Amino acid sequence: MPTNFSQERLRVRPSSKEESVVQKAKEQFERTLVLARGQLVGSVAALEHPRSSEALNYGEVFLRDNVPVMMYLLLQGRFEIVRHFLEVCLDLQSSTYQTRGVFPTSFTEQNGNLIADYGQRSIGRITSVDASLWWPILCWLYVRRSQDRDFGASQKVQRGAQLLLDLVLHPSFEGTPVLFVPDCAFMIDRPMDVWGAPLEVEVLLYGCLKSCCHLMELAQQDRSSRLLEQRLVLTRQWIHNLRSFLLKHYWVTSKTMQVLRRRPTEQYGDQQHQNEFNVQPQVIPDWLQDWLENRGGYLIGNMRTGRPDFRFYSLGNSLACLFGLLTAPQQRALFRLVLHNRSDLIAQMPMRICHPPMEATEWSNKTGSDPKNWPWSYHNGGHWPSLLWYLGGAILLHEQLHPQADVLLMGQTKAMLEECYWSQLNQLPRQQWAEYFDGPTGTWVGQQARTYQTWTIVGFLLLHHLLRVNPGDVTALHIDGPTTAR
Ligand code: GLC
Repeated sequence: MPTNFSQERLRVRPSSKEESVVQKAKEQFERTLVLARGQLVGSVAALEHPRSSEALNYGEVFLRDNVPVMMYLLLQGRFEIVRHFLEVCLDLQSSTYQTRGVFPTSFTEQNGNLIADYGQRSIGRITSVDASLWWPILCWLYVRRSQDRDFGASQKVQRGAQLLLDLVLHPSFEGTPVLFVPDCAFMIDRPMDVWGAPLEVEVLLYGCLKSCCHLMELAQQDRSSRLLEQRLVLTRQWIHNLRSFLLKHYWVTSKTMQVLRRRPTEQYGDQQHQNEFNVQPQVIPDWLQDWLENRGGYLIGNMRTGRPDFRFYSLGNSLACLFGLLTAPQQRALFRLVLHNRSDLIAQMPMRICHPPMEATEWSNKTGSDPKNWPWSYHNGGHWPSLLWYLGGAILLHEQLHPQADVLLMGQTKAMLEECYWSQLNQLPRQQWAEYFDGPTGTWVGQQARTYQTWTIVGFLLLHHLLRVNPGDVTALHIDGPTTAR
């Protein structure tokens, strides 16, 4: 197979210090793990800069930063840490009336007490949406990999899942299957005009609802109940509607754009609408034509009345592959698009979080003149090495599930992934595993970047594991994979 060939060729790069880099990264990773209630619970967001005397930054256990941590621990068979993490998060699930069911963005232990942040302590007092949606996904992937089905079917896990579902499966003013959120509700946690139905949140919702179904099915096998059955029916219907909604309104290709540009506007009344959100053709940005080229496709960032957000968000798109929201041919159209726009999305440091950045007046209006989100920096077009493994996982899972499909394209995609891996291997240790990189090519360490950022380190280790140690393990990321897979 061409992919094996390219792996062999790259493996013997003369200047490679692969093994020692991996070894050191593993040691750094072990240092990020902390205790809660006397047991290892997960990782702090970043280690203290070794040569500075400043206080420990990012010293809390963030749920989203621990997603790659938990995946890595699962692949290493260190199940007890993952279970403890899940249990601590579950104990911290909010029980106050106004936020009941919400999981914290982060927590920390101080003098024996767990202190959780649901947004009430954060900069800008932002909401904790993605963390809440990640919990059932991690829980289900843990149950499947460890075979700890008793945990999955237990009262406390089932109750946690129901409380979370209550936050989603209820009537709303919009009556759509998407979850409506304020700005800053996910990894992009500073103002970036990502309120409404941002892609990452909606894709996570899809993964979350699927995982909740799998968990409920476990309980249903043990003690069948009519209430649970009704909940399952409703959740499955919601999943179906959500997927149709996202594929209809967010998926774009050169072909769909040509249809969209010529749609009627100002449509009123009950008849079948072609332009429900009343999008004017003028809002379609110029850069989109070359970006999509002939056969590329991607999910746009958001859909709001009259105002689609055409920015490309790497995480939402990668997760849409991993969770099977996109069909296999759509996933390949996405890989084609990434290859075509490699100089923007990857450049010197894979990979850019969001493209293109907002500049000038738009930046000042939409971010509230946020200096951290200056154009080409941080969330506004910055490069985050921690995102690469999600794309890598998507490519490798696709390859596992569809080994015969478009061998040429997949060969090129895989070769790109190998090069990205090497570029991280060569740069990250020198750049002290920085949190993010700035500038149009992502060459410079982010102006306010932390160093020894956990998800930078563990994201690299995960990719190393999937490319070198055990490629078959990528199925551990597959939400709908067989329950007995180990
Ligand atoms: C920043 C990032 C956020 C991350 C946190 C901890 O706030 O925007 O996504 O979870 O740092 O690393």
